[in-house]
Amino acid sequence: MADASYDLVVVSNRLPVDRVVDRKGDASWQTSPGGLVTALQPVMRQADAAWVGWVGQPGLEFEPFDSDGVHLIPVSLSAIEVEQYYEGFSNDTLWPLYHDVIAPPRYHRLWWESYVEVNRRFAEAAAGAAADGATVWVHDYQLQLVPRLLREARPDLTIGFFNHIPFPPYGIYSQLPWRTQIVDGLLGADVLGFQRPADAGNFQRAVRRLLGHQTKTGEIRVPEGDGERLVTAKAFPISIDSASYESMARLPEVQERARQIRADLGNPRVVMLGVDRLDYTKGIAHRLKAYGELLGDGELQVGDVVLVQVASPSRERVETYRLLRDEVELTVGRINGDYSSIGHQAISYLHHGYPREEMAALYLAADVMLVTALRDGMNLVAKEYVASRYDEDGILVLSEFAGASDELKHALLINPHDIDGLKAAMMRAVEMPEPERRRRMRGMRKRVMANDVSKWSSRFLAELGESGAK
Ligand code: G6P
Repeated sequence: MADASYDLVVVSNRLPVDRVVDRKGDASWQTSPGGLVTALQPVMRQADAAWVGWVGQPGLEFEPFDSDGVHLIPVSLSAIEVEQYYEGFSNDTLWPLYHDVIAPPRYHRLWWESYVEVNRRFAEAAAGAAADGATVWVHDYQLQLVPRLLREARPDLTIGFFNHIPFPPYGIYSQLPWRTQIVDGLLGADVLGFQRPADAGNFQRAVRRLLGHQTKTGEIRVPEGDGERLVTAKAFPISIDSASYESMARLPEVQERARQIRADLGNPRVVMLGVDRLDYTKGIAHRLKAYGELLGDGELQVGDVVLVQVASPSRERVETYRLLRDEVELTVGRINGDYSSIGHQAISYLHHGYPREEMAALYLAADVMLVTALRDGMNLVAKEYVASRYDEDGILVLSEFAGASDELKHALLINPHDIDGLKAAMMRAVEMPEPERRRRMRGMRKRVMANDVSKWSSRFLAELGESGAK
């Protein structure tokens, strides 16, 4: 066990590093490009901080190590735990349940037992690393029991939890056989952060219905011993490292790459872009349907327009994700078969993840960005697109079911279930005059450049600091 000497301990399912093995078979750690790392690295370097998480592969055990100035404490998961806790309960029970049951959640008692066991292990690792009176910040739906377990083991700690995905309305949440245990697990925290005010409201309602605790906006009274403890529950919308996207987009080589991408696509008048993890919450099929119909109606013509769809591989051992991949690729194949010509493709489909520089070039190359999620905690791709467009051009078509729509009111907001509405918005985007494009992009950039991810983390940590002082 690590020595208990860290003043700040971050706990998340994945560590912020990936293990890469080169051709010679030598392994090394590479910082993963996620937003959370960027957000927390400066804070973590200042404080005496550690990060507890899984290395992303089954069965491997590692001693704690330092990477990029952060102390990392690996939690190991066996192959069966990966199957039951990660692929099962986290991604085949909670993920679909918390995303409006777009796919049917599966409820298995063995998966739940594994979730409890793994959460206990994460809590133990965090408790072992935290100094007396330290702050522990737990992240996301994979670890909702950790706050309570930590509080029981270490009442001296100040505990924060941030839920990166939506928290569902009670009518949906109440399906969960372990609904009370999860809510109780979360209430071990001092501060609970959600993406949207609606998520915080849904959580408070679940608390009232299941435990009968008194709540008022932003505050829950949790009985404890003879007295009570105040738990804060409110929205802290997450963001991205906005300035770094802007500076990447300003690099001459990124701009050259953007020109190259357009040239490789045959220099069409309009490039549309979708960028998603290949996940059923993202509404990829709805987007493809709308686009296919516009080509079929003759409103859009191949050669004049192209859709680039980046779908990065995700959770490929979970059945629903495998089925989704088949469905998406069948649809892409059909649309390309029906509408592509020898020289021009209707859809350029890429089943890969790309480095940030390549993404910035794609964002610059795209006239229209399509974010059509059926449900999404925030959707950082929408913010990345806006941050990259320092030229103040480009149109964002954005689902009202993505958390980002609370802030990005200048996007063309759509309901992805309404295919005619989506088609109309796509046509409006294609035809939008430049002054309107600029006005909208400027409005969005004001928000995204001002509210970046470091503001988010300092706001959360400040709230946590105040709660510790109560
Ligand atoms: C979402 C979740 C994260 C998760 C990520 C990638 O953004 O909120 O907690 O890490 O998806 O999913 P994965 O299952 O590969 O970690």
